[in-house]
Amino acid sequence: MTGGGGFIGSNLVRALVERGDDVRVLDNFSTGNRTNLAELLGDVEVVEGELRSYERVHAATRGIEVVFHQGALPSVPRSVQDPLTTSAVNVEGTLNVLLAARDEGVRRVVCASSSSVYGNSGELPRIETANPDPISPYGVSKLAAERYCVSFSRVYPLETVALRYFNVFGPNQDPTSQYAAVVPRFITAIADGRAVSIYGDGEQRRDFTYVENVVEANVLAAETDGVSGAVLNVATGRSTTVNELADTIASILGRSVERDEQHERTGDVRDSWADVMRARELLGWEPRIGLEEGLRLAAEFFLQRTALA
Ligand SMILES: NC(=O)c1ccc[n+]([C@@H]2O[C@H](COP(=O)([O-])OP(=O)(O)OC[C@H]3O[C@@H](n4cnc5c(N)ncnc54)[C@H](O)[C@@H]3O)[C@@H](O)[C@H]2O)c1
Repeated sequence: MTGGGGFIGSNLVRALVERGDDVRVLDNFSTGNRTNLAELLGDVEVVEGELRSYERVHAATRGIEVVFHQGALPSVPRSVQDPLTTSAVNVEGTLNVLLAARDEGVRRVVCASSSSVYGNSGELPRIETANPDPISPYGVSKLAAERYCVSFSRVYPLETVALRYFNVFGPNQDPTSQYAAVVPRFITAIADGRAVSIYGDGEQRRDFTYVENVVEANVLAAETDGVSGAVLNVATGRSTTVNELADTIASILGRSVERDEQHERTGDVRDSWADVMRARELLGWEPRIGLEEGLRLAAEFFLQRTALA
């Protein structure tokens, strides 16, 4: 797995280890963290290496049956600041993963794509047959990576599946980085009695998806026959505004919310909400954990971590 030291990757590593799979992680720990794998270190082979190096990726791919490609620079604002590095890691890095998989006779590559490929045009909820129209350099990079996955399934004997994740949240997500996502930021701020930063009017909608649902989609995408070349939304199929998210977290924590209104962020989409029929039909997958249950589980994780710190 690439990016196994990151938020989603480490949750997926844990699930694979619990199933009894042998797992090798390739990560340069730039946005991920070794502590995410601390409890699993005896069960996982960790290779520190760079996605931009074909040699490193190739060496890490030897003897592998399925590659879960989670490694990327995953932030919209980071991509606006530095589109070149985002593209090098997300596009060239994905090409290295696909080439190494092809060269090593890997059966299937399951690739993390993103709702950011949709942009603002077209109807809601977003359906996979809609024309992609990304706004940010990050969205462009994920679209290019995803199209390389589809292309490789057409021109080489390599199976690929691309999963478009929508606003994933849960344990091991970093609440402190400059590019931290909204759910861990809100949980830690509200729990500490600090104001939450809201970009724009807070009425933008998102399909917030608990990480366990994403882990299960990955496992099914690796195992289900006859789905090579597919591109699938992975989300809950429900939309929530950022203001509603803040209120729900506050009520779970038994706190009130203080809002700090900030300018809208360049590159952000207005509304994001998925149609998840295709993944249901092709993978037999269900987003089992809804928003509120997921937020309770995530809050438990972050509060426990703060208590231990
Ligand atoms: N979190 C979300 O809401 C979300 C939504 C849509 C798509 N995604 C995609 O899911 C995947 C995982 O995202 P995440 O939220 O877990 O992010 P993350 O930053 O926690 O994980 C990414 C991992 O990739 C590693 N990495 C980054 N650059 C690398 C490089 N050059 N070489 C080797 N390893 C490198 C990082 O160290 C990190 O461990 C990414 O592909 C991201 O684009 C995430």
